[in-house]
Amino acid sequence: MPDANSPSAAPNPHLAPYQARGLKGRILSGVQPTGNLHLGNYLGAIRNFARLQSDYECLYCVVDMHAITVWQDPKELGAQTREIAAAFLAAGVDGAKNAIFSQSAVPEHAQLAWIFNCVARVGWMNRMTQFKEKAGKDRENASLGLYAYPALMAADILIYKATHVPVGEDQKQHLELTRDIAIKFNNDYNAPDFFPVTEPLIFGAATRVMSLRDGTKKMSKSDPSDYSRINLTDDADAIAQKIRRAKTDPHPMPETAADAEKRPDADNLLGIYAALADRAKDEVIREFAGKQFSEFKAALTELAVAKLGPIGAEMQRLMKDPGHVDSVLRAGAEKARTVAGPILADVYKTVGFLKP
Ligand code: AMP
Ligand code: TRP
Repeated sequence: MPDANSPSAAPNPHLAPYQARGLKGRILSGVQPTGNLHLGNYLGAIRNFARLQSDYECLYCVVDMHAITVWQDPKELGAQTREIAAAFLAAGVDGAKNAIFSQSAVPEHAQLAWIFNCVARVGWMNRMTQFKEKAGKDRENASLGLYAYPALMAADILIYKATHVPVGEDQKQHLELTRDIAIKFNNDYNAPDFFPVTEPLIFGAATRVMSLRDGTKKMSKSDPSDYSRINLTDDADAIAQKIRRAKTDPHPMPETAADAEKRPDADNLLGIYAALADRAKDEVIREFAGKQFSEFKAALTELAVAKLGPIGAEMQRLMKDPGHVDSVLRAGAEKARTVAGPILADVYKTVGFLKP
């Protein structure tokens, strides 16, 4: 498989129309409406969505169809979907300039996903670590959708011929699969350069935020302990309590990057600080070298409250105005469909489907 972080060998012919408009390309990314958004989602993905919007044409999708690959209460899914859209807006994504929409509102995703189910190989799917983690021991009982999930994700991206995808580190393998699907489709149908070989954008000081209870485990929405994560909607007291209780070790703060690397809990907190402060981690290590954790934790709390507080408050405000969020989602879906429709029509023609 190609290395997801190295630019593709051949120049990407899909960039030209964007470059002519002073843009670097087209972005698609997605977040699942499956529970509390946390600091990992923010630093790994959502914050970057806002930062990329002036350089790229951006489409940001709440992936409700991915969410139901594991059971979701139908009474809650709608509110959860709005909450993710509210987080995009609160983090600074301009809903008028970019498309913010729910995946199920653009049926072209599912239509392309079926074709990709026929392009992707079972052997490729069997290597997906997210499936193995989510299916757990009882793999026979996992939904077929959970197994096919990465083919739908490839469709989310390629239905727009997106050239770049900002995500956290954990999605790297899915993006490599997306590239493999694009390459195989282009080869199988003798359609060179039909789909772009998409570049992942994994950047920032915290591309993989770890649990506050265990620095070797990813911070995740599904961790049973709420103390393992900082939620975007946590208030100042909750943030302070969680940081105070965050796991550390008995030594003073690390003196060097090499020292920090051997101490995952400390390393994680330093990475979070650097990302929130928009500073290099090495610089943060130098500032706190040899100090007590209590002093560092007080500084981290102050910083986290200052950076996350306004986002949480704006999310709460938006959640009280579902009519507004729905109108953003509607306009976003309409815009997304104008891009996806013609691409799907081309795909159908390429595959040999008769025109309806
Ligand atoms: P999900 O919650 O799985 O829909 O993830 C949404 C986005 O957040 C994806 O781009 C993930 O890669 C990113 N993400 C999730 N958890 C973390 C984490 N602990 N650290 C950094 N990025 C993350
Ligand atoms: N699989 C991603 C996650 O679990 C969510 C996702 C679905 C996504 N479709 C996408 C991310 C398309 C980027 C692009 O986080």
